[in-house]
Amino acid sequence: MMNRVARIRGTGAYLPEKVLTNQDLEQMVDTSDEWIFTRTGMKERRLAGPDEFTSGMGAKAALAAIEDSGLTVDEIDFILVATLTPDYIFPSTACLIQQLLGAKKAASLDIQAACTGYLYALSLAKSFIESGAYRHILVVAAEKLSSITNYKDRSTCVLFGDGASACVVSSEGEGLAIQSVRLGSDGEQAELLIQPAGGCRLPASAETVAGDQHYIKMAGNEVFKHAVRRMESACKECIDAAQIDELDISWVVPHQANIRIIDAIAKRFKHLSPERVYKTVQKYGNTSASSVGIALHELRKEQSLQEGERILLTAFGAGLTWGAALLQAQR
Ligand code: COA
Repeated sequence: MMNRVARIRGTGAYLPEKVLTNQDLEQMVDTSDEWIFTRTGMKERRLAGPDEFTSGMGAKAALAAIEDSGLTVDEIDFILVATLTPDYIFPSTACLIQQLLGAKKAASLDIQAACTGYLYALSLAKSFIESGAYRHILVVAAEKLSSITNYKDRSTCVLFGDGASACVVSSEGEGLAIQSVRLGSDGEQAELLIQPAGGCRLPASAETVAGDQHYIKMAGNEVFKHAVRRMESACKECIDAAQIDELDISWVVPHQANIRIIDAIAKRFKHLSPERVYKTVQKYGNTSASSVGIALHELRKEQSLQEGERILLTAFGAGLTWGAALLQAQR
């Protein structure tokens, strides 16, 4: 059988125009720029407009990624969308994006792995490509987190922002080969980070709305500890699976949840200078599934990656879910 290598051959991102600053949040809840910046590293995040939805933001990021890949929309044969803020519970946001793009040949599927969604989608795309089932897979991660954020709850509302990212994973062409992916989950901790109502356990009702149960609920301290531990171990497993050394990594692109979580991960890479741990958290906050993809796209645009350079992506989120993926620039 032919030895196929899945590679990311194009990336894209979309951030809505409206900026929500720490000063804006000071007007909304009892908080301060100083508290937010020292505890999270965030200064700003973006907010989608009232007529802007996950599907539309995802489609914009997707078009940028397809253009970057040098392919056409007609060549896309599968669309995978990672989101925890779909336009509807059903039909899938992937189908809506398929329609917006006019990707007539593509099958479409949503996946839900919260902030780890981009990595779960990459893992599926890698398997689909390497098995020969598909040739050009569009991975989209898009979130309108502002639609489930409680702007009266200071412990969560300062953290989240809206945005989308995408990439095209192909069996051919230049790009970033996906060398190894490691994923994990722990449903025991499901309630640490949850949107309690709106599913079949607690369908929407006047009571659930009155009780703010359609918003993100989070045990921040607990989540923080798991995030550091799980991302560290996913990175190690991913590096071991690829049979390389930490010294072989050029860039680490972590989920942009909190600068203190990112710094804790960075400390694990003793040979890597802190500037090589890529950050967008200060300007976009936590955009859940989209965050790693937005950061990877911006890294590719800012740096000209040399042949052979390796990038390690890592993410963590509700579920709990976590993962890491190792990419290598190849011509
Ligand atoms: N402004 C001012 N004070 C705030 C605040 C805000 N926006 N949010 C919380 N506080 C207060 C708390 O009420 C608490 O006050 P108290 O001591 O009087 O009770 C105090 O600040 C400390 O709260 P704590 O939750 O211990 O702060 P923290 O240092 O753990 O930081 C988070 C809180 C949410 C920033 C941090 O826990 C975190 O980032 N967790 C992970 C979140 C995450 O990444 N989630 C997504 C994973 S994908």
